[in-house]
Amino acid sequence: MSSEISSSPPKYLQEEEALTQECNALISTLPTRKGWWASHLYQYQGFWYLQALISCRKHFQLQNCDIFLVTSPKSGTTWLKALVFTLAYRTKYPITKNHPLINNNPHDLVPFLETRLYVDNQIPDFSSFPHPRIFSTHSPHTSLPETVQKSSNCKIVYLCRNPKDVFVSLWHFTNKLRLNGTNSMEEVFDSFCQGVSGYGPFWDHVLEYWNLSKENPDRVLFFKFEDLKEKPGLLIRRLAEFLGCPFSAGEEESGLVDEILKFCSFENLSALEINKNGKLSSGVENKVFFRQGVVGDWRNYLANEMAEKIDKITEEKFNGSGLII
Ligand code: A3P
Repeated sequence: MSSEISSSPPKYLQEEEALTQECNALISTLPTRKGWWASHLYQYQGFWYLQALISCRKHFQLQNCDIFLVTSPKSGTTWLKALVFTLAYRTKYPITKNHPLINNNPHDLVPFLETRLYVDNQIPDFSSFPHPRIFSTHSPHTSLPETVQKSSNCKIVYLCRNPKDVFVSLWHFTNKLRLNGTNSMEEVFDSFCQGVSGYGPFWDHVLEYWNLSKENPDRVLFFKFEDLKEKPGLLIRRLAEFLGCPFSAGEEESGLVDEILKFCSFENLSALEINKNGKLSSGVENKVFFRQGVVGDWRNYLANEMAEKIDKITEEKFNGSGLII
């Protein structure tokens, strides 16, 4: 598995020497734990995650109609990016053989704020971004730039996924990213359950956005990977309305909804040459973002007691919230 990554790790997986003095000074004060692929995870504002977001918090300039796609890692980010990009820019980029997704991985089209745009101490130039701008992040809401946290105009779409599938997907993914051998499942299972995973604790991440979506449904749309699999037509229509670009009668009649769903499906995207053999600018191979794309694959990996342990944590953490995943 480890042979699937380039010899030089992406910037956001590199260690302290790639960081500014300011970041290093802050990091030196933070509690650390062993990382899943890079050597450390740092705890910042109650969450474990890689620290490049600090620069983004400082420099990001919000525009009112900005769209933020938020997920905990391995919850379906790649799929969400493809769907929202295709949906929001469907007039500018109709589905043809020249559509940007044919030759670009979704992560290149909708870049992460913290692991792509603000890495390497750069202040990104957004002038070539189409409007509305679409960004993605794994950041907890409390770590987003304050302007985003306070804005009532920007839109946040949060996609969550069953934690057992997230854990299994994360285990596969991080083993592919590791340069030195693989983590045993047992080794990282306890970390995940204790909340020590990138941007974790997983449950706190989900719950924060769930609560925000309840408080302000016009600003935060919360939905589930499993529902998207089960009733994709309903959810993509909801997504289009939320983003202020509902399907017209003509689009409905022409079958555009199904066309977008098929175009962004696991089968279609994973079979594209760019996703079979291409790499992100960070050097990570595009194919690592496409594994099975199904619901319930955890059954093939987790012992009963592991599944029960995750279920118990989920029940306790979400108790009283109304959220069931
Ligand atoms: P599995 O490892 O369970 O297969 P992320 O995009 O957040 O990194 O999540 C990756 C997970 O989403 C992987 O799950 C991957 O296979 C799945 N995935 C990627 N593209 C998908 C798509 N178009 N439809 C459904 N699932 C997809």
